[in-house]
Amino acid sequence: MEHLINHRVKNLEISGIRKFSNLVGQIEDMISLTIGQPDFPTPLHVKEAGISAIEHDVTSYTHNAGTMELRKAACEFVKKKYQLHYQPESEVIVTIGASEAIDITFRTILTEGAEVILPGPIYPGYEPVIRMMGAVPIHVDIRGHQFRFTLEAIKPYITEKTRCIVLPYPSNPTGVSLTETELKEIADFLADKDIFVLADEIYSELTFDRPHRSIATFLKDQTIVINGLSKSHSMTGWRIGFLFAPEAIAKHILKVHQYNVSCANSIAQKAAYEALTKGIDDALEMKKEYAARRDYVYERLQAMGLKAVKPEGAFYFFVKIPNETLNSSEFALKLAHEAKVAVVPGSAFSEYGEGYFRLSYAYSMETLENGLNRIETFLKNANY
Ligand SMILES: Cc1ncc(COP(=O)(O)O)c(C=O)c1O
Repeated sequence: MEHLINHRVKNLEISGIRKFSNLVGQIEDMISLTIGQPDFPTPLHVKEAGISAIEHDVTSYTHNAGTMELRKAACEFVKKKYQLHYQPESEVIVTIGASEAIDITFRTILTEGAEVILPGPIYPGYEPVIRMMGAVPIHVDIRGHQFRFTLEAIKPYITEKTRCIVLPYPSNPTGVSLTETELKEIADFLADKDIFVLADEIYSELTFDRPHRSIATFLKDQTIVINGLSKSHSMTGWRIGFLFAPEAIAKHILKVHQYNVSCANSIAQKAAYEALTKGIDDALEMKKEYAARRDYVYERLQAMGLKAVKPEGAFYFFVKIPNETLNSSEFALKLAHEAKVAVVPGSAFSEYGEGYFRLSYAYSMETLENGLNRIETFLKNANY
């Protein structure tokens, strides 16, 4: 029956991250620096709220958009933290992680042939959904721009078919975040155009050098903001995300969400409420630790002569491969087999990640030190 499968789904490839871990997963004594999730446990008080929800039978469907208490808390959170103003009644949807928010956004706004402009390298969660809609991903190669997706870089790719621009900042995999000036320039340019912005701000609580800013501050009417608790509260498995959009957009996205999943998990919603209220600043402690690790890893990479932009947010370094005769998969495989350190090949983040590898520092200092020692020895032995 396989010949009857939707050709768009058939043509999708499994993610490069998954492919790579299938290849190196069996190697013994490996130090993995690949992971894209925090290494901290979910805060205790949040876990207790989840337990209490089960004990108090909070186990039914909720409103499709999420419980009103959680929607209010989510709106309060983004108002307090990022000066964003959304109505809990009509402008926020509680989703199954940021992933579902991405899916239902594209399924609502894209039609066949629509073009979506994205920076490359980029997190691989957008392109498959765009393709399933029969729409066309247009990547902008920002490797030569210090990974900054500025108006200047975007402009040449705008056509009559452009329907959406993806702004995923702070960025996975580069750690770069756009400044207020850069965001405002993009917003001013788009203000009179029929183009949506999908702003994936899932790492917004993990910014090191300046507070996070959202393009929605300047362009609310055209922007869909995606956020969630996976990274800020170390809650990847709870699957809670948020989608903020003006009512005229949100009411249509809500229909797709409703027929897709009905609502997010009721128990996780209770835990999420606790995270956004009593746990409003839970990310700060984790961020302190990430910042210390970032500084440590940066120093070590520099001492080895490896080039990477110093991350402004999230918990990744995107490192230039020192030997240009190897592509990113070949380099990562060699490193895995010879040094027993796993990193993600840059090509997992679109073809514009080629020439780089992603190193996650969502690991203890001890693991980072051991992993970096191995990389250092590998580079010395290989004479790179
Ligand atoms: C940029 C980006 N967006 C979205 C997601 C998915 O988030 P969630 O686990 O909340 O679905 C990730 C996960 O790594 C990510 O890095």
